[in-house]
Amino acid sequence: MRIIALYSPKGGVGKTAAAVNIAYLASQDNCRTLLWDLDPQGASSFYLAGAEPVKGRKLSKLLEGKSPMAKFVHDDIYPGLDFIPAHSSFRNFDIKLDQDDGDGNQLKKMLAPLSEETSLVVLDCPPTLSRLTEQVLDVADQVYVPLVPTWLSMNSWNQLYEFAKDKKLGAKKLRPFFSMVDRRKNLHQSLVQQGPERLNNYADVAIPYASVVERMGEEGLPLEKLDARSPAAAAYRELWSVIKNDLW
Ligand SMILES: Nc1ncnc2c1ncn2[C@@H]1O[C@H](COP(=O)(O)OP(=O)(O)OP(=O)(O)O)[C@@H](O)[C@H]1O
Ligand SMILES: [Mg+2]
Repeated sequence: MRIIALYSPKGGVGKTAAAVNIAYLASQDNCRTLLWDLDPQGASSFYLAGAEPVKGRKLSKLLEGKSPMAKFVHDDIYPGLDFIPAHSSFRNFDIKLDQDDGDGNQLKKMLAPLSEETSLVVLDCPPTLSRLTEQVLDVADQVYVPLVPTWLSMNSWNQLYEFAKDKKLGAKKLRPFFSMVDRRKNLHQSLVQQGPERLNNYADVAIPYASVVERMGEEGLPLEKLDARSPAAAAYRELWSVIKNDLW
């Protein structure tokens, strides 16, 4: 079982859109995938299930750790794609992880029982830098970081990289890629071109800014189902092929 995360301490940069599209593409590529929405805001649930309420399975009990993880997994959304939706109780993840301090990586323990039936876990992370993030950085094989091409985000990427390096949080696993790229903007074009020399571990992919990505939320569909022929869908397929190459 391989584990990846979509993470950035910045909000609204395309983590969830990428997590959902990558999870769907992986599941279509003979790779049994589990998408876990770790963000209490629950945006992944929107993209996958649209307006349909996701069936309640007492997710608040997940953090108590008394029931088997498999009980919380929805396996009926798409074939080959399992899903753990978010729950507002995930706000307490950090408290839980702190209580269990010294007892190893809790996230790893929670995922272990699922390893037989799962080839890939995709973690959709909230935009925070917390205990949960530290455990995500520890447990993940690779962490993909969407960057909107502005000087500010290039700068905060460098900060994140240095922070992870200082704290020994697996800086080498951090793989930045560009997100929400508007080719009509000179700055966007120029920063994307500079990606290979400016960014450590650069994953050479640029997801375009496209209204069809915004529509994923309205329609509750991954891009491959919504408009597989769009350039944005092609860019996510490229990202998936980079990820596959990184992992196997
Ligand atoms: N490539 C894109 N083109 C246009 N809109 C996009 C693109 N990617 C994401 N969006 C839109 O931007 C908003 C934020 O995207 P998303 O939820 O994926 O970001 P996020 O990083 O997960 O945010 P958060 O930090 O709040 O979890 C959403 O409304 C989404 O539809
Ligand atoms: Mg998100």
